Amino acid sequence: MTTQKMYNRYTITAALPYANGPVHIGHLAGVYIPADIYTRYLRLRKKDVIFVCGSDEHGVPITIRAKKEGVSPQEVVDKYHQLNKKAFADLGISFDIYDRTSSPVHHKTAADFFSKLHKENLFVEKISEQYFDREAGQFLADRYIIGTCPNCHFPEAYGDQCENCGSTLSPSELINPRSTLSGDKPVLKNTKHWYLPLDDYEEWLSDWILKGHQEWKTNVYGQCKSWIDNGLQPRAVTRDLDWGVPVPLPGAEGKVLYVWFDAPIGYISATKQWAMDHQKDWEPYWKSPDTRLIHFIGKDNIVFHCIIFPAMLKAHGDYILPDNVPANEFLNLENNKISTSKNWAVWLHEYMESFPDKEDVLRYTLCANAPETKDNDFTWKDFQAKNNNELVAILGNFINRALVLTWKNFNGKVPPAGQLTDDDLAVIEKVKKIPFDLADSLEHFRFREALGNFMELARTGNKYLADTEPWKVIRDDPERVGTILNTALQIVAKLAAFGAPFLPFTSKKIYEILGIKELLWEDALEENILPAEHQINESFLLFEKIEDKVVDDQVNKLAATRNMNLQEKEKAIPGIKGEIAYDVFSQLDMRVGEIRSAETIQKSRKLLKLTVDIGVEIRTVLSGIAMQYSPEQVIGKKVILLSNLQPRNMMGIESQGMILMSEDREGNLRFLTPDGASENGSVIS
Ligand code: MF3
Ligand code: ZN
Repeated sequence: MTTQKMYNRYTITAALPYANGPVHIGHLAGVYIPADIYTRYLRLRKKDVIFVCGSDEHGVPITIRAKKEGVSPQEVVDKYHQLNKKAFADLGISFDIYDRTSSPVHHKTAADFFSKLHKENLFVEKISEQYFDREAGQFLADRYIIGTCPNCHFPEAYGDQCENCGSTLSPSELINPRSTLSGDKPVLKNTKHWYLPLDDYEEWLSDWILKGHQEWKTNVYGQCKSWIDNGLQPRAVTRDLDWGVPVPLPGAEGKVLYVWFDAPIGYISATKQWAMDHQKDWEPYWKSPDTRLIHFIGKDNIVFHCIIFPAMLKAHGDYILPDNVPANEFLNLENNKISTSKNWAVWLHEYMESFPDKEDVLRYTLCANAPETKDNDFTWKDFQAKNNNELVAILGNFINRALVLTWKNFNGKVPPAGQLTDDDLAVIEKVKKIPFDLADSLEHFRFREALGNFMELARTGNKYLADTEPWKVIRDDPERVGTILNTALQIVAKLAAFGAPFLPFTSKKIYEILGIKELLWEDALEENILPAEHQINESFLLFEKIEDKVVDDQVNKLAATRNMNLQEKEKAIPGIKGEIAYDVFSQLDMRVGEIRSAETIQKSRKLLKLTVDIGVEIRTVLSGIAMQYSPEQVIGKKVILLSNLQPRNMMGIESQGMILMSEDREGNLRFLTPDGASENGSVIS
């Protein structure tokens, strides 16, 4: 039951990134690039649109980071707010405003929102037991409690999650919980909080999403359905914390709004701020039913944007609801999950430093690889290939050829169209159709497909020149070449217009070379954009090849990060070494053997000289077990021998392998012995 509505206005939001770290390519591919493409497209169609974003500056991780660095939370968010704001601008993400949730306008907006719901009795108050640090005199967020994981016994698991085995925990499950503030054992203490009774909205949500929004992406719809089918629970919207929007009620000192309650209200605050800055009215963007509200987010944000925030908006009553939430899946990096804590990422601000003037290459690659329907992978090799084989070889090549030939043969003046052949007409026909496919793809949030449509336009142009070979025709038939180049140049102009949402920097350059003003979508649909005799400007290359060395450097940088992480991990879990590839393991030749003879060695208290039968041969092995075993005790024992260890000379004897041992509780060495009747020589795998 989806009815086509006429919208007069668009409010586009992109998830507010936490201001406790930089933005990386996963964020970009999942959220900001599609949102920017969509918004730029709407602007080209002269829609009334506002595109809002900003820093999400509250929440526990920010306070933890501040403690770790010995600065205030405000200092942390100030730093990353500036960093991310600039990095987004550098990449051409065209927010109308990049606001922040620590702003006074936001604090008031969020507090008022809470107050209204409170006044109308839409919250449930509940008292529950929470961990409290007596020494520090404050309640502890889950992240502030560490202890031993009940699943894997990792000693440093957090109250909400074990980073070693990945299991989700609650603080009460931790063995030996302790506070990260004082190191003390926390105690349970009663505290009051306000809950949004999501269960009361279950029926409405089911109706609104499951019946009313079947057009949502399947990954989004599916997650919503599973939440609703599992039954919704009341959700606390306040926390005991000293960083955030204070709960605007008497007696609620030391309590703030839960970050996921205040952050989405940040979209509204940002709109208000933008309106104040531009003498506009913010209200239609959030209250008029003819406004289309769209949230761009990553998949970890679905429940907040499709269920909780809409329930808040509905409860409040003054606001419109999102019409669509085109959430994406995750982008991996070189086959591994992007991880901020492990520094496994390509950070936007670092990319901008390493690849100045290559904004569009990143925009292109990330859009082409956008994780729209499933998780996807970014690799530097693919980045290079997309640049060299698509941007350089197709888009850049076509445009450059058309421009250079125009200069060479017509002094940079657009030649008249002249007599069009059937082939020309077929190309023109095809070119005419593509923008409609492109628009359709964009309107359904299929950005990869849309980029494919755009490249189809470039391919068509490229093929047209390759087929018509104007460089060969020029001597015999310059008029014909005029026709070809006129046709080609009209395509170049269309590429500038229809490529603008994806590749705004390149589009701008093309307009500069063509010497025309930026076109609106409708104007670019015209067959003849450039009039005959129009003078174009000097041309230059739009893209350049990326050499192996450049991407190899990036891959090496990641490899270094990976090694660092392995070493870190070794440190973190005492005794467990960094991970190895299966390959490495399979190089070990270990097999069952039997001790045939044993003797002590003069001058050595520790070593026994053994001969071990490993089926195919008998080995001499020195083993440091003389303190625990007498020769008689070991003869006839089955052992495991590492048989391809480089031979070693000790006490003038060559030891040809190593017997695997473990320690008992007292630290004595014990043989590892096969369980049951393994043959001598049987290989361990
Ligand atoms: N900061 C959150 C994240 O990065 C997103 C917040 S989106 C908003 O996952 F709606 F809350 F603003
Ligand atoms: Zn664990």
